[in-house]
Amino acid sequence: MVKLTNKTKKLVARDRKFLLSQPRMPYTFAADRGDGDYAYDIEGNRFIDFSSFIGVYNMGVNSDKKVREAIKKQLDKLMHPALLEFYAELPVDFAELLSGMMPRAGWKFFFSNSGAEANEAAIKFANLFTGRQYTMAFYNSFHGRTSGTLSLTSSKIVHREHFGPFTNTIHVPFPYCYRCPFGQEYPGCGLACIDYIRKQPLSKEVGPNEVAAFFAEPVQGEGGYIVPPMDYYRELKRLLEEHGILLVSDEVQAGYMRTGKFLAMDNFGVVADIYTMAKAIGAGLPLGATITRASLGDIPPGAHANTYGGNLAVIAGAFEQLKGVRANRAKLESEIKSKGAFALKRLAEMREKYQIVGDARGIGLMLAIELVKDKKGKEPAVHERELILKDAFDNGLILLGAGQSAIRLVPPVTISHENLAKGLDILEQSVKRANAETLKGRSR
Ligand SMILES: Cc1ncc(COP(=O)(O)O)c(C=O)c1O
Repeated sequence: MVKLTNKTKKLVARDRKFLLSQPRMPYTFAADRGDGDYAYDIEGNRFIDFSSFIGVYNMGVNSDKKVREAIKKQLDKLMHPALLEFYAELPVDFAELLSGMMPRAGWKFFFSNSGAEANEAAIKFANLFTGRQYTMAFYNSFHGRTSGTLSLTSSKIVHREHFGPFTNTIHVPFPYCYRCPFGQEYPGCGLACIDYIRKQPLSKEVGPNEVAAFFAEPVQGEGGYIVPPMDYYRELKRLLEEHGILLVSDEVQAGYMRTGKFLAMDNFGVVADIYTMAKAIGAGLPLGATITRASLGDIPPGAHANTYGGNLAVIAGAFEQLKGVRANRAKLESEIKSKGAFALKRLAEMREKYQIVGDARGIGLMLAIELVKDKKGKEPAVHERELILKDAFDNGLILLGAGQSAIRLVPPVTISHENLAKGLDILEQSVKRANAETLKGRSR
């Protein structure tokens, strides 16, 4: 059982005094160090990590020793190359290696410092390439919290309230089949949600020739780890191509091997026009990438740029990490597939056994359970989720929430089979206890 002392309590008090508020988990994890499958708090407690520190440490907590060595070496040489005005070798080497991971040939790269920044750039590039002003995005999506990306993001009111008005994005329902916005069932629905886009917003709200790009998380992340039907993006791409609308695949959370493919969109057999990446691509340091189909053209110099993009210390780590991923791609893909299948089976068993587990879903090691008060009514079990997150933490497992009442499982994709199984055991025990408590509460 994890014990927290005054050391953690004092840190929390000082944090509240000096830092503006953050959302934070219902448990108190004060990060100290990490190593592979494990994270350690400042008290020395060890946890199995099912968070990858919000999808960043896909290749193990605190990244590989080789990656850290590459960063250290570059620190003593030159950190900041001012790529905006000067040239440097590493960012070009990295872009060349990254282009080898992309579907098809012919991509151009723009580096920045975060997911939001990568998406900001994608909005501007799409506007420039098409000469159009509007964007489209899904309800329940998350693309960042900057003013520009907030026009796309629509997973929670708290992200947007007080910051509008946002005028240039049209939102449409995501194919969230567990809670179908049209009350239908797949595949009988015939993807009514695509038909809706054609017949409603693109017929009544904005002319399709005014829309520059459609932003999509291939698997919705912050909105609840929601996987669309496998033919969804093929149909969506067909519709967008009819009207010259670019598809932007936001791979910030779902990309970089998370789903067992380098790009999550690869699972759906679709090639997007623009990809955005961040989180795991930086191996623990801040890196964003906006990747555009080269045939879309170039941007006028100065139309978009930043000071820090292409920072050499950051790219040194990212380059070293990507070399490893490239060399082991096939092995990683098959291991993630088999670990993911094992974990999803365990989650599906929990759904069968426990009333409060309404749904179990995911691809690769991007997995979730959605908690409900009862399976029929599907009322989100928000309190029960808190109980589970906290109980699992007390038993040595770090988990994150997603959406209104889902728990996401996002361990390093390199996690050992043994630790994956141990983590799932801890999760199941916590679900079992919360389930029993809920049933007890109801019989009172
Ligand atoms: C899909 C997606 N896009 C964009 C972002 C924003 O990234 P950042 O927090 O690095 O700005 C996130 C962050 O969680 C994300 O999950």
